[in-house]
Amino acid sequence: MRKIVAGNWKMNMNYHEAAKLLDEIIISRSSKPDDVQLIIAPPAIYLSEFSSALRDLENISLAAQNVYHSDNGAYTGEISTSMLSSLGINYCIVGHSERRTLFKETDTDVNLKVKSLLKDGIQPIICIGELLHERENETHFQVIEKQILAALEGLSEAESAKVLWAYEPVWAIGTGKTASAEQAQEMHAFIRKILSENGFNTQTPILYGGSCKPGNAKEIFGGKDVNGGLIGGASLKANDFLQIANSF
Ligand code: G3P
Repeated sequence: MRKIVAGNWKMNMNYHEAAKLLDEIIISRSSKPDDVQLIIAPPAIYLSEFSSALRDLENISLAAQNVYHSDNGAYTGEISTSMLSSLGINYCIVGHSERRTLFKETDTDVNLKVKSLLKDGIQPIICIGELLHERENETHFQVIEKQILAALEGLSEAESAKVLWAYEPVWAIGTGKTASAEQAQEMHAFIRKILSENGFNTQTPILYGGSCKPGNAKEIFGGKDVNGGLIGGASLKANDFLQIANSF
């Protein structure tokens, strides 16, 4: 089973702060087990320099936080999948709830991004998760099923094997309100069930995201269908991030 701890830095840190954090993670990475993969998702402006810094290092990869689905062209301000692959970027977060809510990204946008990333050999980390009212009214399973099937629309089983998932209950993101280990495992198992029922690969990594911290990571990562975490706030401190990487 792949073990992955990914850090979504979101829109945080100036260049000097970001470079310092990367150095701290590189220096302390040997404190994690060899079979745990680190993925770092810095703001896009730092990807080029970071890709050079990480080029020859084992088990520490870079992800973009977002991408535009079209080939190069008149899309001011956007970044294409071919630009990311030209830097050797191996992963890209897609459909984060902040992009779905703040920037009105739809399930169709997510699907188009997934297809474009796979075309350029980049593994999508597809974020799915329910809103608080959807959990409270118990429609969260339907929401997750819809997001999964929309994201994989038109993809083959083989293509679905190249995707990673991040289950991020929106009500747990940045709130300090983490899903319980039971809730996380229940939803991760459900995701694999939906993948299986629809002929998609069921062995791809599923990460948990939503207030995952050094104090709760071990319990959450104990779920048999939990491959690790997609970490927000706690990824901005090297010590916390590496402690989480030691929580399997
Ligand atoms: O993408 C991960 C992020 O949404 C989780 O944020 O701060 O709750 O760990 P946080």
